[in-house]
Amino acid sequence: MKIARLTLSDRASAGIYKDLSGPEIERILTENGFTEVEWIRHVMPDDRDSIETLLRTLSDQENCQLILTTGGTGPSARDNTPEATRAVLERELPGFGEAMRMRSFEKVPTAILSRSTAGTRGKSLILNLPGNPKAIEECLPMLIPAVKEAMRHLE
Ligand code: MTE
Repeated sequence: MKIARLTLSDRASAGIYKDLSGPEIERILTENGFTEVEWIRHVMPDDRDSIETLLRTLSDQENCQLILTTGGTGPSARDNTPEATRAVLERELPGFGEAMRMRSFEKVPTAILSRSTAGTRGKSLILNLPGNPKAIEECLPMLIPAVKEAMRHLE
């Protein structure tokens, strides 16, 4: 199985801080049964057009079954991930973002600042996660049954 993880962050891509979020995604998926995986890893700035282009390539050319992004989902001017994602989705699956905001809001009031979404393009499931590694740990494990089921529907 081919899975891409994209860390979308101006600062991480400039080396101002280390990317902890991408490895966190990989760790959680590996621990939850995604073991036979060819990982495609990217760390890139928050440029909407480049994100869109990469998402299209990963889906259409690289045939990734799952594409996970982390970061760029908030309200700042450089947070472009949901817009880039929506531009490439054929079908939106809004439940993923809704579930993350709902569950995390019970713990952290700022969780509703994330505008993350998800959906399908061809045979790829694309899912936005928040940028903070702790937020990934809070959100990703509970989504795994739905991720696996969505992937079965796309086979
Ligand atoms: N979700 C959880 N579980 N825990 C958090 O601390 N931080 C929020 C939110 N979601 C947070 C969270 C904050 S402060 C922001 S701005 C948004 O995610 C967007 O973060 P991003 O732009 O790094 O994706």
